[in-house]
Amino acid sequence: MTMTDLKGRSFLKELDFTPDEWRSLLTLAQHLKLEWQTGPRRQQLAERNIAVIFEKASTRTRCAFEVAAHHQGAHVTYLDPSGSHMGHKESVKDTARVLGRMYDAIEYRGFSQDSVELLAAYAGVPVWNGLTNEWHPTQSLCDMLTMREHTDKPDREIAFAYCGDAGNNVGSSLLIAGAMMGMDVRMVGPVSLQNSPVAMDAARTIARTTGARITQTDDPASGVDGVDFIYTDVWVSMGEEASVWSTRIEQLLPFQVNRALLDKTGNPDVRFMHCLPAFHNRETVVGEEMYAKTGLAELEVTDEVFESESSIVFDQAENRMHTIKAVMVATLGA
Ligand code: CP
Ligand code: NVA
Repeated sequence: MTMTDLKGRSFLKELDFTPDEWRSLLTLAQHLKLEWQTGPRRQQLAERNIAVIFEKASTRTRCAFEVAAHHQGAHVTYLDPSGSHMGHKESVKDTARVLGRMYDAIEYRGFSQDSVELLAAYAGVPVWNGLTNEWHPTQSLCDMLTMREHTDKPDREIAFAYCGDAGNNVGSSLLIAGAMMGMDVRMVGPVSLQNSPVAMDAARTIARTTGARITQTDDPASGVDGVDFIYTDVWVSMGEEASVWSTRIEQLLPFQVNRALLDKTGNPDVRFMHCLPAFHNRETVVGEEMYAKTGLAELEVTDEVFESESSIVFDQAENRMHTIKAVMVATLGA
């Protein structure tokens, strides 16, 4: 297959890529997924060493990076929040220059986007953003692949609504990714939690070239009207104070994804998406705490929707691996 050349590039945020480059990553992900399923399997990262740094918890992203790396023949070193000096006794800049002497690429999940940008500026090897407070680009790449797999429509005819904490990392990443794909993008949430004007302006600028339609609204009914996908994420993200929970619940309960909201789409085939983890029952420590405090057993999505036929959240979870593999192979592959 022919491929846009992304060798040596970092993967820090959607805005660093042209729509063509972004689409070429999706094409590669589709190819690698098929190759993994049907063979013959090739290893394009043999002899490579990859450091994966996690300053926040992760299930999907860490496992996706590690498994994808192993499929491609690479070795991985996992550094947990207390597993290196980075940020505590050694600056990001110095850590970048050390790791860059030993590793062929670095994945980083942390707090500020500045840190991952600094790592990339000084490491001298590709750096991949595994989530920051501002962006979650490996998630949005995965979500675009998952949307493609669950509709026959071309990208430009796909409509999705992100309902909830629209201005968070996942919301911002989906806004830009959807704009690059030329989609009908609805960012649905309370005014105080909407995307930053900078992200909105960037999306609208991209939309002028791709034909995307960008809507920002605090009205759930009009926001979801006619969409193919409804997406939500947690109401309080990692790194935010636990004290914001009560305000968030008050602000975001009207945007909860429940059967009534799915019905408001008017589309019986609407699909539900979530980056996960999700608070849809009391089977977690936080879920139980919230239930004790508020009496709510379900937060951003009801258990009924989460467990329904409309839900494609585990297809998304699997696609993290295929899309992350594409990012690694495109930027570091033989
Ligand atoms: N969606 C996602 O990034 O999940 P993890 O936090 O488990 O990596
Ligand atoms: N917005 C969430 C995404 C988790 C994958 C967070 O940052 O915690």
